[in-house]
Amino acid sequence: MSKPEIGIGLVGSGFMGRCHANAFRAVSGLFDVPGEPRLRVLADADDALATRAAQALGFERGTGDWRALVADEAVDIVAITAPNVLHAPIAHAAIAVGKTVYCEKPLSTTAALALEMTQAAEAAGVVTLVGFNFLRNPMIKLAQQIIASGEIGEITGFRGRHAENYMADPDAPHSFRTNPQGGGALADIGSHIISMARYLLGPITEVQADSRTFHATRPTAPRSTRREPVKVDDMTHALVRFENGASGSLEANWAATARTMDLSWEITGTKGALAFTQERMNDLQLWSATPGRSGYIRIEAGPAHPPYGAFCPAPGHHLGFNDLKIIEVAGLLEAHAGLGATGPDFREAYEVQRTVEAMQRSDEERAWISL
Ligand SMILES: NC(=O)c1ccc[n+]([C@@H]2O[C@H](COP(=O)([O-])OP(=O)(O)OC[C@H]3O[C@@H](n4cnc5c(N)ncnc54)[C@H](O)[C@@H]3O)[C@@H](O)[C@H]2O)c1
Repeated sequence: MSKPEIGIGLVGSGFMGRCHANAFRAVSGLFDVPGEPRLRVLADADDALATRAAQALGFERGTGDWRALVADEAVDIVAITAPNVLHAPIAHAAIAVGKTVYCEKPLSTTAALALEMTQAAEAAGVVTLVGFNFLRNPMIKLAQQIIASGEIGEITGFRGRHAENYMADPDAPHSFRTNPQGGGALADIGSHIISMARYLLGPITEVQADSRTFHATRPTAPRSTRREPVKVDDMTHALVRFENGASGSLEANWAATARTMDLSWEITGTKGALAFTQERMNDLQLWSATPGRSGYIRIEAGPAHPPYGAFCPAPGHHLGFNDLKIIEVAGLLEAHAGLGATGPDFREAYEVQRTVEAMQRSDEERAWISL
């Protein structure tokens, strides 16, 4: 019996749009998903751009009007990879017509808007998923299992950072990422390390943050000689306390010279420790207490760590960034078909956004903020 078709509408065809399109094209060849994704409509900023991108990415048609995509009866899932300020209006329109919404992080530009989106989705009973794809790594799942099993004892500390260098150049231009409405290193990549900390240790209850802007002005556009002030953080450090009693620190830094994808952390427990960096995403370090041989051992991703085996039957061949999106999309299609919840949903992404905002307030007020 052939599987039902699931119509995909994708808004945006940049870095993440291409990543989503790749995942929707690939997923049914790797996972036994409950429906066959059909790439129906791609929306972008104008008709010409959308038509070109639709052809390049395998969609049936393109439109310069995301409202037409949302209203299109052939679209069942609305995937949002447009700039952050567009997430809320697109999501609300999709929720209003009962469609599944797959939105990139950060969920919105403020926690208040993220809460409105969450409440609208919950009231309408639609499936939601937010693109915290780094949580889909089998090594992260393994870390969560090791922590939950008690193997490394009671968790006392989390030291995490998301550091990259894409804004290290003072001539890197403004973009939606530097828009004071929801931009900055903390919202852009700090949201990833916050979601990771919450996934592994649970809720964060208190924060004390310190933000810095290294480059006071940036060009208004690529190659422009006109410069405008930067009103968002390049780096934020925060002390954090968790509901489970652990404490630690988080850093978001998009001007971290020498770092390319250092979404990394070390978790300390009373009996052991774990360490991870996305720059070596197929490795999880587990501290072993064997007397005379104590030290970190490297656990390498392989078929013993589902769903690695869906991609490759042999260890050592390694998953990549785009594979995490394919795993995420497999979960999305299951949730869309009513076969259990996938996460993180809008509610969880709202909690992440609330934490981002608490850190921003803490920096402004130079004070600890309770969540
Ligand atoms: N999950 C991740 O790992 C990850 C990584 C990068 C970006 N992101 C998120 O994905 C989103 C997009 O980031 P990106 O790096 O792909 O940006 P991008 O600039 O590469 O792409 C944005 C796309 O949106 C389109 N767009 C702009 N205005 C539009 C409009 N009015 N209607 C329709 N389309 C419009 C642009 O033309 C472009 O195709 C952001 O929310 C970002 O935070 C997530």
